[in-house]
Amino acid sequence: MPNVAAMMERSLPGSVLEVLRTAASVASREPESARELYLVGGMVRDMLRGEASEDIDLSVVGDGPAFASALASELNGDVTKISEFGTAAVEAGSLSIDVATARDETYEHPGALPTVTPAGITKDLARRDFTINAMAVDLSNASWGELIDPHGGMSDLMMKRIRTLHTDSFADDPTRALRAIRYESRLGFKIQPVTVNDMQRDCGNFDAVSPARALADLRHILDEPQRATSLERAEELGVLGSISPAFRIAGRSLKAIQDTPDREPIFHVALIGARLTQAEAASLIKRLDPPVDWRAALGAGSTYQEIASVLERSDLRPSEIAELLEGFPVLALEAQLQLAPATRQKAALRSWLEELRFREPLLSGDDLLAAGVPQGPLVGRLLAELKRARLDRTVGTRDDELTLVKRRLPVMLNDNGGY
Ligand code: CTP
Repeated sequence: MPNVAAMMERSLPGSVLEVLRTAASVASREPESARELYLVGGMVRDMLRGEASEDIDLSVVGDGPAFASALASELNGDVTKISEFGTAAVEAGSLSIDVATARDETYEHPGALPTVTPAGITKDLARRDFTINAMAVDLSNASWGELIDPHGGMSDLMMKRIRTLHTDSFADDPTRALRAIRYESRLGFKIQPVTVNDMQRDCGNFDAVSPARALADLRHILDEPQRATSLERAEELGVLGSISPAFRIAGRSLKAIQDTPDREPIFHVALIGARLTQAEAASLIKRLDPPVDWRAALGAGSTYQEIASVLERSDLRPSEIAELLEGFPVLALEAQLQLAPATRQKAALRSWLEELRFREPLLSGDDLLAAGVPQGPLVGRLLAELKRARLDRTVGTRDDELTLVKRRLPVMLNDNGGY
């Protein structure tokens, strides 16, 4: 077994090494909670590539939550969550440490949450998603730094390969398809043809994945800089379609996602929604059951498409542009602006977003009452009229607005029988 202790010294930040050493001494003191202790997951993968990562994943043969609480008190940290699967999280300063009880997993039916039983590290590694994520570094004092790599993860790292451990991996957990794609884009690796075959064969099992889990893995993709590459690949491999047949991303939207690397994830959701039909947006929302900002971002696209051609008219007044665009979420219109070809529509969107939406009358409701307008619906109607006049620049000063009110009030009173 190769020993990677020297590599750990070189690649891991001092604060992480310190936590790992503390964990090793807690384990030697409390063997009933940790007969064996390992560093696992992304930190092992990234360290072997010479890169530092933030999140520490520990696996203990014993009792994960009990070990987490001993570790937390040694580090002056807190145990923040304990799950039914024998895992617990420790927060210590800026570091977050996940502690899991080494376990075996079986799946009652494809896509279901696993049934978990405590196990040794060999079984714990065998239940994992990809060979590059199925390595462990022994942290016990006697064998500190020994690399356990039963599935050829190190050689796949060197060959830049994403490979599952067994042919039914995606049937067990279809969300691994999104994970494979995310690692491929992030690391510049290649999903192996056999793994692609398995993925495409078993992606139909996405039906059994809950909205919350599908949404969580999509969010992970949107959170990473290579999101456009991942989304394009997920569409090409049929993974988006397995999540929902309504899930497609227009080429223009993909390019716009790529062109806006610094925008927040919800803006990219709006770019996805921008070219969906109403039926597609509705069924995607039903499938993902996302929070309200996602619903608005996905749903606004089809409503906008209904009015897009009107925005091409050359005779539109600013107040008419306002009437068309008021009520749309700003983010959805920003997404449309990003997508629009250089036409009148684009100019209208820009003028609404940058200027028109901020134009308000100078007079307030109180000013209208002071000018003799009776309390009631007329106040709102006059304010709306003032706003239109200001948008179209037919009024300039406060006096212009008062003059308009005095001219319109008798007419409106007359129309309204006094109100
Ligand atoms: N894992 C898995 N199957 C999943 C999710 C996670 O096998 N569906 C395993 C992998 O071994 C993974 C580890 O759990 O390495 C930790 O999961 P996570 O924190 O999501 O990923 P990391 O590998 O730490 O990678 P990332 O850099 O994306 O956080």
